[in-house]
Amino acid sequence: MSFPNGFLWGAGTSAYQIEGHHGRGESVWDVFCRRPGAIEGGGDGSRACDSYLRWREDIELIKELGLRAYRFSTGWSRVMPDGTHADPKALDHYERFVDALLEAGVEPVLTLNHWDMPATLTWAERSTVNAFAAYTEPVAGRLADRVTWWITQNEPWIIALLGFQLGLHAPGVADLGTAVKAGHHVLLGHGAAADVLHTHAGVKAACALSLFPCDPATDSEADWAAAAGSDGYVNRWYLDPLLGDGYPDDMREHWERALGHDLGFIRDGDEAAIGSRSDFLGINYYTRRVMAAAPPNPFPWRVVGPSGDVARTDEGWEIHADALRDLLIGLSRRFPGTPLMITENGGVFGDAPTHDGLVHDNRRVAYLRDHVQAVRAALDAGADVRGYLHWSLMDNFEWALGYRPRFGLVHVDHATGVRTIKDSGRYYAQLISGGGTAPDLPRIEAFG
Ligand code: FCB
Repeated sequence: MSFPNGFLWGAGTSAYQIEGHHGRGESVWDVFCRRPGAIEGGGDGSRACDSYLRWREDIELIKELGLRAYRFSTGWSRVMPDGTHADPKALDHYERFVDALLEAGVEPVLTLNHWDMPATLTWAERSTVNAFAAYTEPVAGRLADRVTWWITQNEPWIIALLGFQLGLHAPGVADLGTAVKAGHHVLLGHGAAADVLHTHAGVKAACALSLFPCDPATDSEADWAAAAGSDGYVNRWYLDPLLGDGYPDDMREHWERALGHDLGFIRDGDEAAIGSRSDFLGINYYTRRVMAAAPPNPFPWRVVGPSGDVARTDEGWEIHADALRDLLIGLSRRFPGTPLMITENGGVFGDAPTHDGLVHDNRRVAYLRDHVQAVRAALDAGADVRGYLHWSLMDNFEWALGYRPRFGLVHVDHATGVRTIKDSGRYYAQLISGGGTAPDLPRIEAFG
C-alpha cells in the first residue's frame, strides 16, 4: 500500500478545544459554556489540554508519532480579542509554534476559524465577513511565508445547523432563517479570507466541509428522493457554491418553501465572491446518513439509520470506511482538478489506561486501518487525495459534549493534563514510517 511521495500524514486539533484560556479574548464559546445545561458535565474550554502553555510537549508528541502534517487553528478570539485589533503576543505565539513544527519537518495546516470567534461577532451579521477578512490579514501577514496549507472555515453546515438552527453550539440560536443566512455569511467569509490569502504567493486556501454521504433506507423512489434532498441540504448546498457552480436550485426551492420567502440575503455577485477560490477541498468525514421520506419538518426527509447490528463508535456513529472511499471517488469525478485533503476523520472510543499503564484502543486502530485503506482505494481509482489528517491528535474539549468523548491518538488525563500515546498512536506512527502499509496490531502483554 504505497502512497504518493509527500502525502500529508497527520492529525488535527483546534484552538478552543486544546489551548485553554491563558489571556485570550472572550469568545462565543466562553459565553455559550456559561449557559446552564449547554455543556454535558458543565465543562468549558478555560483549561482544556493547556496546550497554550504545553505546546512544546505537543510538538514532542507530534514528533514521536512521526506526523508529516499537523492541523491546528489560530484562536480568532486570541489573535483579535476585541474583534478588531490584533494582539502581537498572540501572533508571536503562533509564529513560534509554526517555526517549531517546520523545524521538526512537519507541514502546518492552519485553520483560521475553528468556531472560537470573538464574542462581539456573529455570523448572523453580514459585516462579520469583513471582520473575518480583517483577522485573516495579520495572521497571513505573519505566517503566509511559512504556511502553505490554509483552511478558512471549518464546517459551515455544522456552524449553521448546531449554532443557529438547533442552538446546540455557540452562539445558541434556534431559528431556521437565521441559520441559512449565517451559513451564507460563513461561505462569503471563506471567499473574503481566500482573497486575502491569495495576495501571498504560493498559499493554498480551502474550506473544510463536514460531508455526510446520504443513502436511501430502501429502494423506493421516495427514499431515493429523500437521500438526494438530504445530500442537497448537508453537502451540495456548500460544495456547489464553493467549487464554482453556485447554490443548487433544488435546495434553494426547499429553503424558500420551508421559510416562506426568498433568500434575499444572497445578493447579486455573492456566488461569484464564494466560488473559484479554493485551491483544494478539505473533507471532514465521520459517518453517513441513511434517509427515508417523511412529512416535511422542515424538509420531506428524515435520518432513520443505520439501525441494527452495524459497527459503531462509542458515540453510536456507524463506522463505514467504504463510504469514505466512494465519497472521494465521487468528488474527484464531479470536481476534477480540485485536490482533496481529509482534514478530519476519527471516532469516539473511550479507552483509558489499563493494567500496564497503556491505552489499548484496538477499535480506533481498526478504524484508522480501514479508513486509510479506503483512501488508498480512492487513490487507486484516480482520486487526487493529498493528505489524511486524523481527528484528533489528543483527547480534548468536544464542544457541547464536554470532555466525555475521546477522539485522540493520545490520551489526556483531564485532571492532570498528562498525555499518554495510545496504541492507535503507536500504530499510526508505524503506518506512517512504512509509507502507509498497515503494520501488525500492537501487542498487549497479558495481565498477571
Ligand atoms: C467536527 C469538528 C471538530 C470535532 C469533531 C469530532 O465537527 O470540526 O472540532 O469536534 O467534529
